[in-house]
Amino acid sequence: MTRIVPSQPYSGQKPGTSGLRKKVKVFQQPGYAENFIQSVFDVVERAPGSTLVLGGDGRYHNRTVIQQAIRMAAANGYGKVLVGKGGILSTPAASNVIRKHGASGGLILSASHNPGGPDEDFGIKYNIANGGPAPEGVTEAIHARTQTIDRWLTVDAPDVDLDTLGTTQIGALAVEVIDPVADYAQLMESLFDFSAIRAHVQSGFSMAFDAMSAVTGPYAIEILENRLGFARGTVRNGIPLEDFGGHHPDPNMVHAHELFETMFAPDAPDFGAASDGDGDRNLIVGRGRFITPSDSLAMLAANAHLAPGYAGGLKGIARSMPTSAAADRVAEALDLPCFETPTGWKFFGNLLDSGMATICGEESAGTGSDHVREKDGLWAVLLWLNILAVRGISVDALARDHWARFGRNYYARHDYEALPTEKADALMAQLKESLSSLSGKVFGTLEIAEADNFSYRDPVDGSTSSNQGVRVMFRGGSRVVFRLSGTGTEGATLRVYLERYEPVGGDLDRETPEMLADLIAAADAIAGITHHTGRTAPDVVT
Ligand code: G1P
Ligand code: ZN
Repeated sequence: MTRIVPSQPYSGQKPGTSGLRKKVKVFQQPGYAENFIQSVFDVVERAPGSTLVLGGDGRYHNRTVIQQAIRMAAANGYGKVLVGKGGILSTPAASNVIRKHGASGGLILSASHNPGGPDEDFGIKYNIANGGPAPEGVTEAIHARTQTIDRWLTVDAPDVDLDTLGTTQIGALAVEVIDPVADYAQLMESLFDFSAIRAHVQSGFSMAFDAMSAVTGPYAIEILENRLGFARGTVRNGIPLEDFGGHHPDPNMVHAHELFETMFAPDAPDFGAASDGDGDRNLIVGRGRFITPSDSLAMLAANAHLAPGYAGGLKGIARSMPTSAAADRVAEALDLPCFETPTGWKFFGNLLDSGMATICGEESAGTGSDHVREKDGLWAVLLWLNILAVRGISVDALARDHWARFGRNYYARHDYEALPTEKADALMAQLKESLSSLSGKVFGTLEIAEADNFSYRDPVDGSTSSNQGVRVMFRGGSRVVFRLSGTGTEGATLRVYLERYEPVGGDLDRETPEMLADLIAAADAIAGITHHTGRTAPDVVT
C-alpha cells in the first residue's frame, strides 16, 4: 500500500543548529515537510522495523505534520511509532523516550522559543538513538539529500486518533499514543529527592512557574503541583496553546517579564522559574534575585551532589564558549575536567556519551546533564529545588555564598537583530582581520590579553569545528565574545557576550549594567558595531 509521490529537491536553507526552522506557510507548501522527513528517513541509520519517537511542542501545524510523519514512517519500514498524546512531547521528554524505549531516533516538531501560529514559525529536528540532536555529519547528509530528493513515500491511511492512549496498526507499523509525562516524571523522581522538596513545600516554601502557554505546562502541573505538593496555580499559563497566547515562549527578562514582576514584588514567592516553547530552556529567579544562566550552571555544578542522582559527584563540567567562565572556577575548585564547546547542544553529546562530563550548560538558558541528551528546563528547576530544600537557604543567599567562594562573573548578552546580512558579515570579517593587532590594546582599565576565532576539536571523535565566534580576552578574566546567530529566521543577528570577572574579595554586590559599562564601550570600539550597523543600542539584552 506504499504510495510513491514524485517530488522536487527544494532550495531550502541549510538546516541550522536545531534542524529545519521556517515559517508555517513554508511548511504548508505541498511536499515541503514530506521532502525533509523523507530525506531524514533516507539517510539515518536504522534497522528494519525500528522505533521512531514523534512529538512536538503543540504549536500550530504540529498535528498536521505528525499525521504526515506517521504515514511516511509506515511506508518507510518503521515497526513502531511512539507518539505523545495530543502530539505533545517536550524536547527533553522526547530524548528520554528515545533512550528508554531503544528507538533508532525521533522527530521533534518545534521552533523552540520562537512564536507560533499560522504566520509564525515551525520546525522539525531529528534526534539520534542516544536521544541527542543529530551530529553535524548527519545534518549535512540530510541536507545533501534534500538537494537531490525526487520522491517521498507514504501510505493511504486515516489520521490516527492522537488524543486516546493506545495502539493503532497501519499495515506493519504499530502507532502507540503514549502519556507524554509519565516516563519523564519517573526519571525526575529517580534523580531528585522529592520527599525533601515536599517537606520544604509543606514548611511554607512557595514558587511561581510560568509555562508560557507552551509544552511544559502538563509536565510542571504533574510534577510540581501533583507530586511535590506546590499549591494549585503555582503553574501559570499551564495549558499548551497553538500560538502560545500570542507571546514568544522565551524565558528571559523580556518575554517572561510578568514572572520578573512577581519575583521582585514585596509579596514574591520564594522561587520563580519558566521554560520555553519546547521545554528545554529554563529561567531561574529567586525573590528579588535573577540568576544568569551562566551562574545557574556554576551554582548547580557546585551543589549537584546534594541531589541523589549526583551524590557520587560529577565527572566533568562542559559549557558553550560564550557561556561565562563561572563554571570553570567550580570545576577548578572541585578538581574536575572542564570543556569549552561551540554554541549548540549537539557538541555536548560525545562528552556525555563517553562519561567525560555530567553537567552542561549554555548562556542561552540551557542547562542539563547526562540523564538525557538535550538541555532540560524542568530538570534545572528541580535540581534548584532539591538544593534549596537541602540547604534551607534562599536563592539570594545561595548566590552570595557562591560568589564569596568563587568570585563573580557579571554577565550580559546584547543581541542586534534583523541586521542586513552583508553588514553583519562585514563586521565579522573586519573583526577577524584585526585579531592579531588586538592584544595589548587598552580601553580604560581594560587591557586585551589575547583574541582569537574560536575553534574546537572534539576530544572523542577528533572532529574540528572552526570559525565559531571571536573571543576577546582581557587581563584579569573579563571577556567579550562576538558571533552571528545560527538560528535566526530574519536577516542576521549579532550576539555580543559581555563578561566581567570580579575575584573573591572584589566588588561582588553591584548592579550588572554599571559593572559592564566599560566592556560595552570596548566592544563597540573593537568591532565597530555602530559604524557597521548604524545601531546605537541592542534590541534585546539578556
Ligand atoms: C541559540 C543559542 C544557543 C542554542 C541555540 C538552540 O543559537 O544561542 O546557545 O544552542 O539557540 O537553542 P544561536 O541563535 O545563538 O545560533
Ligand atoms: Zn527550546
